[in-house]
Amino acid sequence: MTHPAPHHPGPSEPHGTSAPGHDHCHGHAPGEGHHAHGADPDSGLADMLDLDAELFAEHLADLTGRLARLAGRAVTHIVDLGAGTGTGTFALLRRFPTARVTAVDSSPGMLARMVGTARARGLGDRVRILEADAATGLPGVADADLVWASASLHHVDDPAAALAGVRAALRPGGLLAVAELDGLPHFLPEDAVADRPGLEVRCREALTALHGAQVPHLGADWGTPLTAAGFAVEYEGTDRLELRAPLPAGAGRYAHLVLSRVRGALADRGRIDPADLAALGHLLDGGPQDVRHRDDLLVRSTRRTWIARCPTGTP
Ligand SMILES: C[S@@+](CC[C@H](N)C(=O)[O-])C[C@H]1O[C@@H](n2cnc3c(N)ncnc32)[C@H](O)[C@@H]1O
Repeated sequence: MTHPAPHHPGPSEPHGTSAPGHDHCHGHAPGEGHHAHGADPDSGLADMLDLDAELFAEHLADLTGRLARLAGRAVTHIVDLGAGTGTGTFALLRRFPTARVTAVDSSPGMLARMVGTARARGLGDRVRILEADAATGLPGVADADLVWASASLHHVDDPAAALAGVRAALRPGGLLAVAELDGLPHFLPEDAVADRPGLEVRCREALTALHGAQVPHLGADWGTPLTAAGFAVEYEGTDRLELRAPLPAGAGRYAHLVLSRVRGALADRGRIDPADLAALGHLLDGGPQDVRHRDDLLVRSTRRTWIARCPTGTP
């Protein structure tokens, strides 16, 4: 279903897959500070999200399959909350062939990129975009069968307000899926850098400390806030994903993108030993230790998922 834009949409107004008129992004990911604004879309983050979905496509398909089994009836309207580049949108459109998706994001740069991808894949007429802050509700969105919030809820300043908005947007009995990472994926064995054993673990700890201040909801247990918002949690699961040699194409580039963001987040903040920072730099500089051409790389990431149902009675 297409939602043509009769005029240039305002910041909280739903519109079709016409690209937004300005371009900045405030998304972030493991390894980056909160609300990183910029004049251009954050292509490093966007590429990382796309690669993540490509590498862990099987996990994504498992989750959408679980949603299909739990949905109980046809899913025709989906909301992708904090859609980013549309990794969830495209997986859900594949799983639910008669559905359309409202992709919500506060970053016009991300929305513009996802519109381009939707059109390139011939899916433009099944996607509409809504530029909005999830904490302020989902204007014009009602009776959704499913809301998908992947790696996005932890960004929202007021998750309780966001969950109230989600509840208002869902039909009675509709589902909310919350998918989150526990933080930075792992890539290297303990002794990967001979003179700096445990380098990656220390980087992870420094990043966790930084996130504690900047992204306090990262790693939260969403079961409690979901219940407090009136949802009935029907599934909660933790998946420890691991990719080993022979690694799929893109794994080295994924590691490079993630660790580059980690380095960007930690540089000049005095949170790690300068020798660790220098060693991290050697994993990224195109030299012999670079993660893009090492043979000891593995990719490990822990994902948690909650699937909750909107009550069918009057709140
Ligand atoms: C880490 S990305 C995840 C993107 C996508 N869901 C995925 O899993 O690949 C988080 C996204 O949430 C968006 N976001 C952050 N805070 C938001 C807010 N308050 N309201 C709406 N979107 C937000 C960011 O712009 C970014 O695109």
